[in-house]
Amino acid sequence: MRINNRNFTFSTLLVIIALSMGLCSCQSQTAIMHSSFTPGEIWLDTDSVHINAHGGGIIFDNGKYYWFGEHKTAGRGGNSALVGIGCYSSDDLYNWENEGIALASANDPDSEIVKGCVMERPKVIYNEKTDTYVLWFHLELKGQGYAAARTGVATSKNVTGPYTYLGSHRPNAGHWSIELQGKMDNKEFASDLEWWTPDWRKAVNEGLFVKRDFEKGQMSRDMTLFVDDDGKAYHIHSSEENLTLHISELNDDYTGFTGKYTRLFPGGHNEAPAIFKRNGNYYLIASGCTGWDPNAARSAVATSIWGPWESLGNPCIGKDAELTFHSQSTYVLPVQGKKDAYIYMGDRWRPRNPIDGRYIWLPIRFENEKPVIEWHDEWDLNIFDN
Ligand code: DGJ
Repeated sequence: MRINNRNFTFSTLLVIIALSMGLCSCQSQTAIMHSSFTPGEIWLDTDSVHINAHGGGIIFDNGKYYWFGEHKTAGRGGNSALVGIGCYSSDDLYNWENEGIALASANDPDSEIVKGCVMERPKVIYNEKTDTYVLWFHLELKGQGYAAARTGVATSKNVTGPYTYLGSHRPNAGHWSIELQGKMDNKEFASDLEWWTPDWRKAVNEGLFVKRDFEKGQMSRDMTLFVDDDGKAYHIHSSEENLTLHISELNDDYTGFTGKYTRLFPGGHNEAPAIFKRNGNYYLIASGCTGWDPNAARSAVATSIWGPWESLGNPCIGKDAELTFHSQSTYVLPVQGKKDAYIYMGDRWRPRNPIDGRYIWLPIRFENEKPVIEWHDEWDLNIFDN
């Protein structure tokens, strides 16, 4: 087709008008509304920015969900806490509004949470007795890598914050775990045990590292929180050089430890714990320890939080199940108003550009009382109605 000059000018004009109308309508458009989950894809918040709440957990409060997570930044240093712990809110779990930074990392070089420290896996619970929200997170002190192995606590009267930092703990200083009580008074371990040998493994099982850290408190790295139906709260954390999980009871106001704790799977090398309760049973989903790289998830069940815990193996099935669909657990979310509806929340870490980390949310179903997680490219909450 021949286009003469006049026509061309006219068509160009039409294109320009159409384009500028398009641009205008884009600018005035409200953000895209989501009505499904697309695990592993960029997840835009209501400001059309990829959600920045990694290693997170969710609390349901007064009809809304609040998602707390690590605010990551771009580039290799982006895993350290340069900003703090962020909060998002949602009515429907698909669309999230940025509520800002709930606990900011500090400018004060003398603060434990000075910018450049590590603040990971934040979780918030509500304490009815004190009408206070309590935030715990894995804290590593600036410049010390992952050596400090502490857990930090902060509180707020508002769910979204700002939270006031109270300090950090090595849990349960001066206390033996339930199963070690009465067995440790005269217990000695050889000082020259070589790691990973059978003798060393036996010593780990018998409390080698619990004894080492008895006075200063137990190590606490990857962590989560769980509030039971009776209002008791628990802090679940990777301890003993990441070899053994501890379940530790929190005190009445949830800001400290009572000294009562149990050891889960000594020497089992579990990280990224997530605990939930279903039909009176307690379920645990965790990962192995391979840094930012994914590995096979594990699951376990118990009729009491204090155990005994029975291992149920990898809950994931299908392609990439042995890598937890390239993710690591962070939380299991019970969906409000739906029976038997639990969401596996995991992180697909991007250590070279942490801000680009992705969220792997998948429905959990139960087969013979065992949790099962399968991959879905896209899914929505109706899946729980089938
Ligand atoms: C695995 C943990 O689960 C993460 O939270 C983080 O601590 C990385 N290790 C650091 O390598």
